[in-house]
Amino acid sequence: MNVKITLLTAACALALAACGDKSPPPAPAAPASTAPATTAPAETAAPASTTPAETAPASTTASAPAGGAAVVTDCATEIEGNDAMQFNVKSITVPASCSEFKITLKHTGKMPVAAMGHNVVITKLEDMKKVAADGMGAGIENDYVKAGDDRVIAHTKMIGGGETTSVSFDVSKIKGDGPYEFFCSFPGHSAIMKGTIAVE
Ligand code: CO
Repeated sequence: MNVKITLLTAACALALAACGDKSPPPAPAAPASTAPATTAPAETAAPASTTPAETAPASTTASAPAGGAAVVTDCATEIEGNDAMQFNVKSITVPASCSEFKITLKHTGKMPVAAMGHNVVITKLEDMKKVAADGMGAGIENDYVKAGDDRVIAHTKMIGGGETTSVSFDVSKIKGDGPYEFFCSFPGHSAIMKGTIAVE
């Protein structure tokens, strides 16, 4: 295409009078429209990149389903907390084949930890309210988790907007009598910021 146009231009340049009124409008238009379709390394690459772009939103939706299940890969998951006092998942399923499991919490908001702090605490469902209440008394300096609370199976530190934290724990600890729950122990948050965690 470029070659043709160059030749055409050259031809016109050499014969200005002949090309001047006729060839410019129709001629470039025709090669221009056929050339991309046939030449096409760039054109075929474009549809190929369009396809991943269309599947990407689908996988993004799968990894961050508001109120859905956490995506687990290699005995680990990443969940999010935001400035609207929400986790992005309502359940975490830990594969029974995992001996250790890692939860990473990403605070996608902007608010400081003192105003909109989030952590992940894992307890039995029946212990959750009492652990959260005791955590309130422990203060933010203790991540709102009472020191030495043996009802707490695992917990991350308390983080603010833009921060990330994680915790790993022995999966056998949630293989007993459940059900088990994960929640944020920041005062008042556990009413909304909670979900189930189970081994399957
Ligand atoms: Co929180």
